[in-house]
Amino acid sequence: MIEPELFLKFLKGRRSIRSFQADPISEKEIEMILEAGRWTPSASHRQPWEFIVIEHKELLEKISKNAYYGKFIKEAPVAIVIVGKLNISPKWHVIDTSLVSMNMMLMAWVLGIGTCWIGAMNREKVKELLGLDENDYLLTVLPFGYIKGDIPDPKPRKPLNKIVKNV
Ligand SMILES: Cc1cc2nc3c(=O)[nH]c(=O)nc-3n(C[C@H](O)[C@H](O)[C@H](O)COP(=O)(O)O)c2cc1C
Repeated sequence: MIEPELFLKFLKGRRSIRSFQADPISEKEIEMILEAGRWTPSASHRQPWEFIVIEHKELLEKISKNAYYGKFIKEAPVAIVIVGKLNISPKWHVIDTSLVSMNMMLMAWVLGIGTCWIGAMNREKVKELLGLDENDYLLTVLPFGYIKGDIPDPKPRKPLNKIVKNV
């Protein structure tokens, strides 16, 4: 097991990274990130997801043009698209895939690899670029790469006494 204080420190230390070195990340590291996704819990254990690994620079550039706050995707050597399958879990696919995304982001951070959830994009256009259909919910495109520059300072969080109710 992981030492609790260390784990909390690790969670607090994770940052969204928006600038990447061009160096590729290894197949082993990509596999570990995918494994972290695969082992995510899901409602009724339906695992309503698919992961698309993109290493094709041109495709990343096209996606980047359609990501409103994610132009930096094109800098990353690899990205993973997380897709929710509506037919497998019509009710929970968004929540289940969101948990996948968190697992992948945390795995990346342990590996010293930066990433950032890209939510704001022209979904219809990106789905078309990826050959996805109406059964596919495009959750996010996570870019992955070694961190370029300094790790950003943490953004302040709401204090516990503002968000916790004791009853
Ligand atoms: C659902 C979701 C969507 C997000 N979409 C974007 C996005 O489109 N572009 C971006 O740069 N960051 C995006 N982010 C990252 C947040 O801005 C970031 O997590 C937040 O500012 C806190 O910073 P931290 O991750 O470094 O702690 C998104 C995060 C989440 C959870």
